[in-house]
Amino acid sequence: MSTVAVVDPASPFPAYRELSDESLSERIDAVRRRMGERLVILGHHYQQDGVIAHADFQGDSYQLSKSAAERAGCEAIVFCGVHFMAETADILANRPEQVAARGGRRVVVVLPDMAAGCSMADMAGIEQVEDAWADLGTVIDTSDVTPVTYINSAASLKAFCGRHGGIVCTSSNARAVLDWAFARSRRVLFFPDQHLGRNTARMMGVPLDEMCVWNPHDPALGGNARGQLEKSRVILWQGHCSVHAMFKPEHVDAMRANLPGVKVLVHPECSMEVVDKADLVGSTSYILKQVEAASPGTTWAIGTELHLVKRLEQNHPEQTIRFLSPVVCMCATMYRIDLAHLCWSLEHLERGKPVNVIRVDDETARWALTALERMLKVS
Ligand code: 13P
Ligand code: SF4
Repeated sequence: MSTVAVVDPASPFPAYRELSDESLSERIDAVRRRMGERLVILGHHYQQDGVIAHADFQGDSYQLSKSAAERAGCEAIVFCGVHFMAETADILANRPEQVAARGGRRVVVVLPDMAAGCSMADMAGIEQVEDAWADLGTVIDTSDVTPVTYINSAASLKAFCGRHGGIVCTSSNARAVLDWAFARSRRVLFFPDQHLGRNTARMMGVPLDEMCVWNPHDPALGGNARGQLEKSRVILWQGHCSVHAMFKPEHVDAMRANLPGVKVLVHPECSMEVVDKADLVGSTSYILKQVEAASPGTTWAIGTELHLVKRLEQNHPEQTIRFLSPVVCMCATMYRIDLAHLCWSLEHLERGKPVNVIRVDDETARWALTALERMLKVS
């Protein structure tokens, strides 16, 4: 990389790779200064440090959704996160009444790199969910099932929930959302993350034998006997986060053996076996809050994405912070967002030629909004 590279703001993306981080940061700051309040940059906690330094607001999925919903006054949101987050921002920042109040103007939502997806979200496709719903209807009464989708899902799945009396949840409000769902129906179909669903339902007292796992690749009732489905109050989609799947119960044992007094703090996307051995479980913001509130000298082993843990380690030298796994677990798709993509997308946005615009079609957005607004009312 050269600090003297000259790249015109109209250049295609590869030219931006020639710029140094210093030069990219200066150019990003310059766009931010010139655009002022017309631009909002949102960043998820898992983003790399260089990117998060340019965010106007950093948060977990729930906080970022709320923030997007409240930013209807700006002209553009650049989302340093993954695809489903940008879709959610587009839906919430462009609610029909707000677009009408702005004389038809939409908030432009940009994802700096379109390859920033989520492998968990990809584990549940809308056709698969629709097929599962139809198949379930041959065994149980689906009017007594509330579909709940983790926010880590495509807008089409949120719309499915909106249409079928269902709701969205995040890792910070899953319990409140399941309470809401169980007040309406005897059963819940939870997708795409089986672990968040299982961990939350168990915390609420649902026994494991009243849960089953639906394998979307098994045409025989998702791999379930009819009796098991009839008995189940929680039908868990067979999906998971490949990052959090890397944390194992034996990693907790090893930490406890090597670090006396260690507090094990994990994200609820970890398996039940890991969660069972942990001291504390919660969303990314919960994890940050626990460490921020702890007294100097506290020792932690943290089971969530690497960038968040490394940042905590840097920001809290008064505490001992260890990554729970001996192997690197980072979200490769979040990592796609780098300074080069951020600079490229910002300069094109400022020139009125936005790239990587995330626009959910109106019909999908309408029903997804129904499910998202139910969530925002619950928590
Ligand atoms: P939260 O920020 O909601 O805890 O979610 C973590 C995550 O995996 C985002 O994809
Ligand atoms: Fe998806 Fe897991 Fe990455 Fe979160 S950490 S965006 S759930 S792959």
